[in-house]
Amino acid sequence: MKFSGKTRVLGIIGSPVGHSLSPAMQNAAIDELGIEYVYVPFPVEPDFLGQAVEGLRRLGVWGFNVTIPHKSTIIPFLDKISPEAELCGAVNTVCREGDFLVGYNTDGIGFLASAREDLQYDPRGSSVLLLGAGGAARGAIAALASAGVARIVIANRTGARGLALREMFRAVFPAVEFAVSSLAAAELAGHLPNVDLLVNTTSVGMNGTSFEYFPLSELPDTAKVYDMVYVPAETPLLAEAKGRGLACANGLGMLAGQGASAFKLWTGLDAPCAAMKQKLLEELER
Ligand code: ATR
Repeated sequence: MKFSGKTRVLGIIGSPVGHSLSPAMQNAAIDELGIEYVYVPFPVEPDFLGQAVEGLRRLGVWGFNVTIPHKSTIIPFLDKISPEAELCGAVNTVCREGDFLVGYNTDGIGFLASAREDLQYDPRGSSVLLLGAGGAARGAIAALASAGVARIVIANRTGARGLALREMFRAVFPAVEFAVSSLAAAELAGHLPNVDLLVNTTSVGMNGTSFEYFPLSELPDTAKVYDMVYVPAETPLLAEAKGRGLACANGLGMLAGQGASAFKLWTGLDAPCAAMKQKLLEELER
């Protein structure tokens, strides 16, 4: 890596940020294209978020990612946010545009790019059952609805959060049919026979957790299953879906996809996706 007075600095702010795979992934992309950028981690405590953003602005940092716990709280410190970020109520990528810091959300785009590539999923006219109603769910719903899905069922543990999302998205995407469900097996079973894509946006599947009982047998044989969790690489949900012979993908492609989309926003260049994904796999194996 060579630096000069012209090197452009990219980075990620979060707390903690030490576990983030983005520095390895983005620097692999930078190396692959041989461009004069560097991507570094910036640990930022929640109480100092405003000062940190001002510092990044004044230091001329070219662009940065935003991770837990700052994705929503950063919004008041930015000059402008994109329609997707507005819809998600969250920003994961900030770009310098003239004197402005502009917030974007590339999580949903990254998810959809990965589902298309890893599952050969075509969203147009399809029916989706989405587990969860948090930030990750919002990004996925925004991307899916923008890409022309016909129906989205939001299944969440806390009913009120699912209902709130249904109301919000219905108003923005009137052509999409939105419904809600609980995670109760009997209720899920009623939705599954018509589903083209099942997406887990919750943290269930991490750290040895699993859904109590998931009536996966009700899914049609043509259904595809996407789990946003990527550690472990195969969650119990994916293992069961694989056992049934369904097309499956974990969240590694989404991580690469959101990063590729951010890279394009900062550099204007098409990201070397294969190199980024390869680096992620190497990092996870270590
Ligand atoms: P993120 O931004 O990653 O989506 P979040 O906003 O905290 O994180 O949302 C987490 C999602 O995972 C929520 O839908 C949450 O369900 P609740 O709304 O009922 O809290 C879901 N979730 C987390 N742990 C869960 C569990 N053990 N069982 C079912 N759903 C769970």
